[in-house]
Amino acid sequence: MYSRSLTLAIAGSIAWALLAGAAVAAAAVVAPGKESNEVARGAYLARIGDCEFCHTAPNGKPFAGGRAIATAFGVIYSINITPDRDTGIGQWSEQDFYKAMHTGISRDGSHLYPAFPYPWFTKVTRADVDAIKAYLDTVTPVAQDDKPNRLPWVLRWREELFGWNALFFDEGEYKNDAAQSAQWNRGAYLVQGLAHCGACHTPDNWLGGTKHSDAFEGGSAGLHWAAPGLGVNIRDGVGGWSAAQIVEYLRTGANAKSASAGPMSDVVMNSTQYLSDADLNAIAFFLKNRPNDRAKSPPKTAALGTEALAHGQALYLDNCTGCHNPDGRGVPKVFPPLTGSAAIQTDNPGTVIHVVLAGSKMAAPSSLPTGLSMPGFGWKLDDREIADVLNYTRHAWGNRAPLVDAETVAAVRKDIEPSDRPSRDSGSTTHPDAPVNRANP
Ligand code: HEC
Ligand code: HEC
Ligand code: HEC
Repeated sequence: MYSRSLTLAIAGSIAWALLAGAAVAAAAVVAPGKESNEVARGAYLARIGDCEFCHTAPNGKPFAGGRAIATAFGVIYSINITPDRDTGIGQWSEQDFYKAMHTGISRDGSHLYPAFPYPWFTKVTRADVDAIKAYLDTVTPVAQDDKPNRLPWVLRWREELFGWNALFFDEGEYKNDAAQSAQWNRGAYLVQGLAHCGACHTPDNWLGGTKHSDAFEGGSAGLHWAAPGLGVNIRDGVGGWSAAQIVEYLRTGANAKSASAGPMSDVVMNSTQYLSDADLNAIAFFLKNRPNDRAKSPPKTAALGTEALAHGQALYLDNCTGCHNPDGRGVPKVFPPLTGSAAIQTDNPGTVIHVVLAGSKMAAPSSLPTGLSMPGFGWKLDDREIADVLNYTRHAWGNRAPLVDAETVAAVRKDIEPSDRPSRDSGSTTHPDAPVNRANP
């Protein structure tokens, strides 16, 4: 009782103002003519920030908003950032735009929800933010009103905002670390800023704020997707990956170690596949060389009983060996290995439950003829069987991860069953009832 009302009180105090008034115009500002190379630079930077994906509804007009973003507190819809003067940001000055990107405060002074990754975008330099604005000024204006957000009532009332920003928001542009190389600094600038990798790959604390102390140790995205760690850990990080393998994954969505399946597939499709070699190499270099990155010891996991292990193994031999092989090694770049896989061993089993229940169809980046795909087993295996087969893969071949129980599988199944609810996940293009991607019609 006490903790519940405390939670509500805190939730109330961190509730952020609605954006209803955000698009209401004050004084008109006319954008000055822009050099075309600044526009091109802005278009590239907008790719890195994945602006178009988040700000475009499935089958909607580019940048006109309306995509549902699932957060810890409920669904938030992205908003219209086309240069439409009435419903978009057509009347915004460069300063208005910089303020939103840098502080999360909209033109009318209301606070934006951190589903807009301003806690990362604050690191972006003024020159880069101006270039993004110059690019956005050139996209087709769309007259489209913003959708009301679906949040619990406490979160919609929010006058007293101290909370969230005071607790979790570190305002300020990226500062070069003089002790590091130019390549390292470029990688750090992108990963911690515009590319906002930590928005998904760093754990959230219980108020939905990012735990910077555990940077890149693994987090979550949308509904029930686990984002593995990006640190030196071999078990649940990229410690066993070379820099070249990280680059290959970000360019194509797959490598000999893993294959993107959910929200990351969208990130690759809409953002990282377009990055220059220099930028991808800088990202990989930074991830492989973070000074405070230390290996964690593996978790103490409950022992898997011999009966459950045998049951899981039998299910694995029946359903999975055809592609992933009896030894779990798969076939490089065709069937990802389950042996030594971070996707399998991440404490949070969200991604693996998701993939086995619903299957997966990786979108293909433009450099590949087709993406990979795996059939779903939700129709065939019940919750107990899925838990057993996953526990087998999480304990066979030297793998180690906490046990998955049937209740957890049931909870994911309930949430990802096809329905018209919008709160699916940020990677809605990869959900079975979402439109199929262009490579796998
Ligand atoms: C993860 C999804 C996501 C990404 C990526 C994203 N945005 Fe947004 N953005 C949102 C959401 C959601 C809102 C609305 C927040 C709210 O309602 O408080 C928003 C709000 C905004 C606003 C405020 C508009 C207003 O009327 O107040 C601007 C400006 C904006 N985004 C620009 C960008 C740019 C530029 C990029 C790329 C560099 C970007 N966004 C990337 C989700 C995203
Ligand atoms: C919208 C959330 C999101 C963002 C932003 C994001 N990722 Fe991911 N990433 C995920 C999820 C979820 C997975 C695992 C499941 C999947 O394939 O979707 C993943 C998987 C990965 C993997 C594979 C890990 C493994 O062991 O299989 C790598 C590497 C990776 N991401 C790197 C990055 C980098 C680098 C960035 C920034 C440039 C980034 N991600 C941005 C959500 C995200
Ligand atoms: C018909 C071939 C096929 C079968 C059968 C199959 N898989 Fe897969 N599996 C794939 C492919 C292809 C991918 C990559 C899909 C993607 O990236 O979207 C994959 C991905 C995965 C992943 C995610 C790996 C990663 O690196 O992100 C897991 C976990 C997994 N499979 C487990 C299983 C289990 C458990 C079974 C049996 C119940 C199974 N698979 C059966 C082909 C198959």
